[in-house]
Amino acid sequence: MMKTKNITEQGYGMFAKFLHWGMALMLIALIAVGTYMVGLDKADPSKMQIVGMHKSFGVIFMQLAILRIIWSRINHSPKLPNVLATWEKILSKIITGSLYLLMLAIPFSGYAMTNLFGYPVSLFGTVDLPLLFGKNPEMGLLAKQAHVLMVYTLLAALFAHIAGALKHRYMDGAEADVLPRMMSIKPRA
Ligand code: HEM
Repeated sequence: MMKTKNITEQGYGMFAKFLHWGMALMLIALIAVGTYMVGLDKADPSKMQIVGMHKSFGVIFMQLAILRIIWSRINHSPKLPNVLATWEKILSKIITGSLYLLMLAIPFSGYAMTNLFGYPVSLFGTVDLPLLFGKNPEMGLLAKQAHVLMVYTLLAALFAHIAGALKHRYMDGAEADVLPRMMSIKPRA
């Protein structure tokens, strides 16, 4: 039976898996739509709508990232296999830590950018969320550069994260395989 909570050593619970894969899909969509929308002409009537969607889903993503951090604190993650080298464990912690940090910092910089350019963030055009910053276009430009730079950093960290999971599954011993803890595949024999 699927457990909601994590089972230390054996794997992640249903809720952690839902957040992991759901947010992975959202992240891909946010990056794809973000890249697409900045290429649209200012006069394009769909641009405002698409940017609005990007912001609203970005805010939801940030709430899910906060929920995920709280969940991982109250419900400890399974330990890394003992067979991993110390450098692998340290690197894994650095990459996972960077991913958590960027999952908060990227949407926050988007939110800040919008406020600094003088606008509130509207949630699907229904409610305006609180203004966290007053108008300051120079700082807005800085937040915009940070938003893009952090997306590139996130992509590099994601690449390392996926490469690590694949290395432990296909290149290391069977005890190093961590993939079945996060997805429904058979552990290696
Ligand atoms: C994890 C969440 C998010 C991701 C991965 C993400 C990703 C991106 C990407 C890839 C771009 C295109 C950058 C470029 O190529 O120039 C972009 C642009 C943008 N994002 Fe986000 N974003 C996120 C959340 C947010 C949030 C929460 C807001 C605002 C509330 C926001 C506001 C914007 C705006 C206004 C732009 C357009 C910047 C411009 O005009 O060049 N983003 N985002």
